[in-house]
Amino acid sequence: MRILVVGGGGREHTLVWKLKQSPLVDKIYCAPGNAGIAEDAECVPISVEDLQGLADFAEKQKIDLTVVGPEDPLARGIVDLFQEKGLKIFGPNKQAAQLEGSKVFAKELMVKYNIPTAEYRTFTSPEEAEQYIKKIGTPVVIKAEGLAAGKGVIICEEEEEALLAVKKIMIDRAFGDAGNRLIVEEFMRGEEASILAFTDGESILAMVSSQDHKPVYDGDRGPNTGGMGAYAPAPLVTPEIAQYVEEKILIPAVQGLKADGHPYSGVIYAGLMFTEKGPKVLEFNCRFGDPEAQVVIPLLKSDLIPILQAVVEGRLSEVKAQWHEGSAVCVVMASGGYPGPYQKGVVIHGLEKQKGKENFVVFHAGTKDQKGQIVTNGGRVLGVTGWAENLPEALKKVYEAVESIEFDGAHYRKDIGQKALRFFE
Ligand code: AMP
Ligand code: GLY
Repeated sequence: MRILVVGGGGREHTLVWKLKQSPLVDKIYCAPGNAGIAEDAECVPISVEDLQGLADFAEKQKIDLTVVGPEDPLARGIVDLFQEKGLKIFGPNKQAAQLEGSKVFAKELMVKYNIPTAEYRTFTSPEEAEQYIKKIGTPVVIKAEGLAAGKGVIICEEEEEALLAVKKIMIDRAFGDAGNRLIVEEFMRGEEASILAFTDGESILAMVSSQDHKPVYDGDRGPNTGGMGAYAPAPLVTPEIAQYVEEKILIPAVQGLKADGHPYSGVIYAGLMFTEKGPKVLEFNCRFGDPEAQVVIPLLKSDLIPILQAVVEGRLSEVKAQWHEGSAVCVVMASGGYPGPYQKGVVIHGLEKQKGKENFVVFHAGTKDQKGQIVTNGGRVLGVTGWAENLPEALKKVYEAVESIEFDGAHYRKDIGQKALRFFE
């Protein structure tokens, strides 16, 4: 089979790394890829925004299956475009991808199908939002409706902050049209975890649970990032809870989308808050998480290709997945300044000596090859990933490696997985 992976981050490197192990795969292209992906696939310089360019490439190169990493091309209709040309592609179409692309769409689905989530109201007028916030008080969460690169969610402890958040979204239009509508949502307390599942629109195949670390600094302090690290599985998600999430959240969402005329195919990602009243949905994403993919996919024992094919062909119920025992950990090494402005082109040292280690990979995110040297090319640079019999061992392996990789300004969280260690005492 000839495969095209769309994207160029750590998640896409993980997908390429896994797909390369399949005996069913002859050739992998990745657009645009990065310096690490270039070692496992042929990178082609087509941007993820160039949907037509990607479709033309897939047609010309006779690609048998395209796998889309990021949400933007999905929300913009890459799947619809490929399907019009008769090309096979893994991911939800434009209508279904609204599950992530519009928080209002996702909330309305959850209410309609009794999926547990925070109380909320939708507003199109800043004055009405302000009045409502004054009435209900704080803490409160303000969310821009559309895609805002993970920055459209503002948690407000004080009323003043909440009013400023409304202004930022609706009057200053910090996120453009993504802020045409906003949601004012009940603040939920608890620990977070994610459950991702494959779905063909009818049945689901859940993956192992995982936990991301969104804030930039240790102890969950500082501004949110795309994710500074992850581990899987999340022991907080017991088998009983996983079953509850499947039955009360994932299946109703998939069935609800189908009943509403938006059949959903691809990966459905439920971001969950474990509240005193049980797990509630924080958000749905329409793709693999990044860095959740980096810890979930290495634990998948089965070949990924037959699963992706079954999803695309609408026969997922025929397929089973096997998972490795043990835990996986990914620690993200980021550029100095990230998630704010950062420099690119900084030389990375220490990558060569990581090669060949067992149950270990350095997934590349923002990297590029500059005249034979690997340099930084983004905010999140590397996802140092390892897996072992248990979480403490995986952590030890990964942090030892992190300490031997260097680039000017590099920073990373030192407490990835700490919240789960209580389960291993
Ligand atoms: P989202 O992109 O909707 O997942 O939000 C980003 C992050 O904001 C989540 O991972 C949570 O940490 C936090 N968050 C979002 N909604 C809520 C809420 N209702 N209560 C508490 N925290 C929230
Ligand atoms: N790591 C969070 C996400 O992929 O949305």
